[in-house]
Amino acid sequence: MSNRDFLKSFFTEHWKYMTVSAACKLNLFDVLVSGGKTSLEISECLSIKKQNGELLLNGLVSIDFLDKVKSKYELNNLSKLLTDNHPETLKYTCLNWSGEHLDAWSDLEESIKTGNSFFENKYKISYFDFLNENEEKLDHYHKAMFAYAKDDYKDIADVIDFSIHKSVMDVGGGYGAAISNVKERFSELDCYLLDLELVIDRSNLLNDVKLLKGDFFKEIPKVSDAIILSRILHDWNEEKSTQILNNLYQALPEHGTLYIIENCSDKIDVDLSLLSLNMLVMCDSFERSSYEYIALANESQFKFIEAKKLNELQTILIFKK
Ligand SMILES: C[S@@+](CC[C@H](N)C(=O)[O-])C[C@H]1O[C@@H](n2cnc3c(N)ncnc32)[C@H](O)[C@@H]1O
Repeated sequence: MSNRDFLKSFFTEHWKYMTVSAACKLNLFDVLVSGGKTSLEISECLSIKKQNGELLLNGLVSIDFLDKVKSKYELNNLSKLLTDNHPETLKYTCLNWSGEHLDAWSDLEESIKTGNSFFENKYKISYFDFLNENEEKLDHYHKAMFAYAKDDYKDIADVIDFSIHKSVMDVGGGYGAAISNVKERFSELDCYLLDLELVIDRSNLLNDVKLLKGDFFKEIPKVSDAIILSRILHDWNEEKSTQILNNLYQALPEHGTLYIIENCSDKIDVDLSLLSLNMLVMCDSFERSSYEYIALANESQFKFIEAKKLNELQTILIFKK
């Protein structure tokens, strides 16, 4: 392919994701769980015009997200993963990258000029304050994070022996994927999940994890001798990260343990440059190296002990108070 042809096709690559995202928003894939349907049947289920429905259905077939067998459209192995009730569903992960994520990316040049996130530039608030004002977006975001977290933290209890602790608190733990895995393996351990009030109200943990409503920029309760801080610092700039780490230091007892889990750019083969741009437009932040996380934690008086690989992306940095 010539460079000109490559570019012409590259400019419209996002049409593919937008087509799939529209299908998720319309619950189109869910309508097909019970079996293949004609365009008329699908359009009636979705209360849309048959002609418009066919445009979307044919778009989905063209990018291999649906199969067309005779006159019926059927789910395939990709679109099955985008249905609500699939145990491994990525529907909300798909939805997460539309809406405000696209608005933010559309304004990337403004964030590059100002160094601020889209939400700071446009609304003078952080992304998490923006989510707090919109419960549906907040829920979609946390369902998306939970889907990532379920995969990312599945081995956490193999990598870290939490039995050396009496209690562990997952600070900013979202819907609790990491702490549930810890509790499942170490049933004697007192486990706490701390997050913002609206998040805790919606979290649906079944095992015996205690729920705490809180704000890591304010006081963090002194309930555990170990704290997990996973995928939090990459959301915040230096100043905010230091505030969080100072509060964690106050919350832990002498010799308490802090587990910082992040994608450390120096520890992996994956290039994090585009994710860093995402962190800028969303959160006024960027992906850091392990040295940068260690320097941040040292500033708040934590002593670095060791690093352990959690998976292909994430590293656990272990600190002591
Ligand atoms: C990127 S998510 C990480 C979630 C989870 N730890 C994980 O690794 O998947 C950031 C989390 O920080 C929480 N958060 C944001 N601001 C917070 C605050 N001020 N106090 C407590 N939690 C907060 C969000 O609600 C969200 O659950």
